[in-house]
Amino acid sequence: MSTSFEGKAIIVTGAASGMGQGVAELLAERGARVAIVDPAAEGLAETERRLREAGSEVIAEPISVADPEAVDRLIEQVRSAWGGIDGLVHCGAILRYAGSLETDLATWREVIDVNLTGTFVVGHAVATSMVADGRKGGIVNIASVAAVLGLPNLAAYSASKGGVAALSRSMAIELLPHGIRVNYICPGFVESGMTEDILEEEGARERMGQQTATGAICGPRDIAEACAFLLGEESAGYIVGNGLMVDSGVTIR
Ligand SMILES: NC(=O)c1ccc[n+]([C@@H]2O[C@H](COP(=O)([O-])OP(=O)(O)OC[C@H]3O[C@@H](n4cnc5c(N)ncnc54)[C@H](O)[C@@H]3O)[C@@H](O)[C@H]2O)c1
Repeated sequence: MSTSFEGKAIIVTGAASGMGQGVAELLAERGARVAIVDPAAEGLAETERRLREAGSEVIAEPISVADPEAVDRLIEQVRSAWGGIDGLVHCGAILRYAGSLETDLATWREVIDVNLTGTFVVGHAVATSMVADGRKGGIVNIASVAAVLGLPNLAAYSASKGGVAALSRSMAIELLPHGIRVNYICPGFVESGMTEDILEEEGARERMGQQTATGAICGPRDIAEACAFLLGEESAGYIVGNGLMVDSGVTIR
C-alpha cells in the first residue's frame, strides 16, 4: 500500500523539471500540499499548472536553494499558509562536465555553491522550522552514484554529491531525536532535463543501458516512488541516514 501524505506540507526543490517535477506530482497525487522551488520560472509555472489542475494546494517560488534569504522567506510563507512544514525532497542541482585538471575555480565554486551549499541552506532552514514547530517528518536529498563511483569528467559534481551524502548522514543522526528522518538517494542515469542532450546522441540510450545491470534507464517517476517511500513514516520509519541506490544496478556491475 502507498503511503498517504494527506494534508502534509512538503517542500520540493528543483521542481521545474525531471525528478523534482515527478516528485511534486506524486506527492500531490497522494494528498500533499506542495511548495515547489526552482529558478527556472517557466518550468516551475508548468509544474504549478499541473498540480493545480489535479486539485492540489501549491506554493511556487522561482528561487535558488543557494540563496538563504529567499529560502527563509519561503519557509515563512509556507508556515503562515499551512501552519508548518512536514518534509523536504531536495532535487535542485546543476551539472558541469569537467575533469579535475580542466575544472577552473569559478566552475568549482558554482557547482559546490548550488549542489552542496544549497543542500545545507535548504535542509538547515527546513529542519530549523520543523524543530521549532515540533513537526515530525522526513528529508530526502538527491545525491548521485557519482558520490560513490570514480566517474571521469565530473570532478566538482562528484565532490558536491559526496558532500550531499555525508551531510545527509550527519543531519540524520542529529535530527533523529526531533523525529526527523534524513535519507538520500543515489540515482544512476535517469531520463531528465540533465540528460536530454546526451540521450539525443545516436546510440546513447543503448550505451547507457549497457552500463546498467537491468538494461533499462530509470525515469523521474521511478525516483519519485523511491522518494515517497523514504519520506513515508509507515514505509520507511526505520530507515535513517541511508543512501538508497536507485541506479538500475550500475553500482553492482
Ligand atoms: N539525471 C540523472 O541521470 C541524474 C543522476 C544522478 C543524480 N541526479 C540528480 O538528480 C537531481 C534532479 O536532477 P534531474 O535529473 O531531474 O535534472 P533536471 O535538470 O531535469 O532537474 C534539476 C532541476 O534543478 C533546478 N535547479 C538548478 N539550480 C537550482 C537552484 N540553484 N535552486 C533550485 N533548483 C535548481 C533546475 O532548474 C532543474 O529544474 C539533481 O540533484 C541531480 O544532480 C541526476
